[in-house]
Amino acid sequence: MSDLKRGLSEAVAAAFAAAGLPAELGRVTPSDRPDLADFQCNGALPAAKVAKRDPREIAAEVVANLTGDPRLASVEAAGLGFINMRVSDAALSARAAEIAADPRLGAQTVETARKVMIDYGGPNVAKPMHVGHLRSSIIGESLKRIYRFRGDTVLGDAHFGDWGYQMGLLIGAVTDEDAQVAKAVEDLNAKGAVSDADEAAAFALFDEKVSLADLDRLYPLAAARGKSEPDYRDRARKLTAELQARRAGYFLLWRHFAKVTKVALERDFHALGVDFDLWKGESDVDELIKPMVEDLEAKGLLVEDQGARIVHVAGPNETKKKKLPDGSVVVVPSPDPLLVVSSEGSAMYGTTDLATILDRKQTFGPDHVLYAVDQRQADHFEIVFRAAYLAGYAEKGSLEHVGFGTMNGTDGKPFKTREGGVLKLNDMIVMTRDKARERLHEAGLGAELDPDTFEDTAHKVAVAALKFADLQNFRGTSYVFDLDRFSSFEGKTGPYLLYQAVRVKSVLRKAQAEGAAPGPIVVAEPAERDLVLLLDAYDQALIDAYDKKAPNFVAEHAYKLAQAFSKFYAACPILSAEPAVKASRLALAETTLRQLEQALDLLGIAATDRM
Ligand code: ARG
Repeated sequence: MSDLKRGLSEAVAAAFAAAGLPAELGRVTPSDRPDLADFQCNGALPAAKVAKRDPREIAAEVVANLTGDPRLASVEAAGLGFINMRVSDAALSARAAEIAADPRLGAQTVETARKVMIDYGGPNVAKPMHVGHLRSSIIGESLKRIYRFRGDTVLGDAHFGDWGYQMGLLIGAVTDEDAQVAKAVEDLNAKGAVSDADEAAAFALFDEKVSLADLDRLYPLAAARGKSEPDYRDRARKLTAELQARRAGYFLLWRHFAKVTKVALERDFHALGVDFDLWKGESDVDELIKPMVEDLEAKGLLVEDQGARIVHVAGPNETKKKKLPDGSVVVVPSPDPLLVVSSEGSAMYGTTDLATILDRKQTFGPDHVLYAVDQRQADHFEIVFRAAYLAGYAEKGSLEHVGFGTMNGTDGKPFKTREGGVLKLNDMIVMTRDKARERLHEAGLGAELDPDTFEDTAHKVAVAALKFADLQNFRGTSYVFDLDRFSSFEGKTGPYLLYQAVRVKSVLRKAQAEGAAPGPIVVAEPAERDLVLLLDAYDQALIDAYDKKAPNFVAEHAYKLAQAFSKFYAACPILSAEPAVKASRLALAETTLRQLEQALDLLGIAATDRM
């Protein structure tokens, strides 16, 4: 079973071949001029070049070969050699019936299923998630669903940031601030072996003294000092190295950080409808690092550089100019080398990423790995991927950074709170839910829904508002956070889509109450034709989203489908139509609802029942 475009492409390709022309030129696309045609083929123009003939004459010949195809109500040559096609009502009715009978609503699966790993979310232990992690979570979750739906075996991994330099920064900041905690940590370090009682006592102290709010407050200060004070940075690196060597006190303090963070992270992810198959962190590959460093050494890839150990990843002719602090300019390799072991002996962000590639290869063996991470980390991934290919840890081209732009404030810069800080993800969810409640009250639903349903609906509206606002843009594009617009029930918004789905549900409920049931689909009216053409375009939207790693194609489809339903509903009465027409329209409405809800689900958006 294939969509109309593919079916027609085969027929047009055969018509090209029958005219002695390359069959692959018979590719059909949806028409740019829906007022003139449903589908078009522009292949006569390149064919004319190949055959040194007049494109109009070729178009006429292909049209003659196609005439009589029962799927086509009309086929015409136009302009310089375009071939315009209108599909017959009968063909549309048959395709609609196929889609209605299909649990996948007309969407095909990939020819060869692959094993795909998606690295997304990327929260950090000891720091609450902020809006920067929002996009990764939203895009990654949608890609995971789309890839899985198309038939791949997919694992989503949160890839916790829990083992790098930031841990050293935090250990330093927390022990600087609280002498009692510092003493407990030092005592444990000195002891080496830690008994259960020591451990329990230490955790009790940490629970009392070090909250997530403390970590949240201390981290930005420590990070800033690390940037401006070389001594502070070196100490943090040393602490990181000691943690990685599992010095007892640091290790227990770090476990406390992980514990308090995880509670908040789970709450935020759950609220967003995001869940991971693997909840692994950088620390989980710690054991792989030592043998990996030895392996890189054995392969001759590891180079000493001012006490650190690095891997050069730039080719001989790849250089860039770099300005030194004294103002002079030097030519250096580009991309930068991968810093594997710092001069203090700690593994870096890129080191854990490289070891994670090995871990994934050993445990899952993915054909492809997608990293849904901020575009600003593009250089980091370029360096890590090159190192992985050089070391033979991944097949060339199998690692892909799926970058995205930022969510900005009205000033065009990455979104900040009124106080100028980053907005925490949880605060954003709370804020959006408040807005959704307001909207639902405006729509008069405060009185209509029982309190639980009202809250559940408000939450779903909020998530739909945030996710659709993000996913409707191509991921590379930055967008402006505008809660008023995102949460409106009108326009290109998540709530609008939920609302359209609710309208369909309400029609179906009324029909059921009257005892009317869906029946055979007979397409006749222009609005019915348009609706079926859209239902038919679902598969292509999924293919585009999959190939380009871009959920906005599915978002766009869902929006157009909702609009087409709205026009159909306005132009074609359902409940008042005579029985056969009513049954057909009910079937169309029901199929639209199923496809719309499925598309929303692939975006990670849950439908509501009333709005
Ligand atoms: N934890 C990182 C951050 O907050 C994102 C992790 C992305 N994934 C990865 N494999 N490096 O920036």
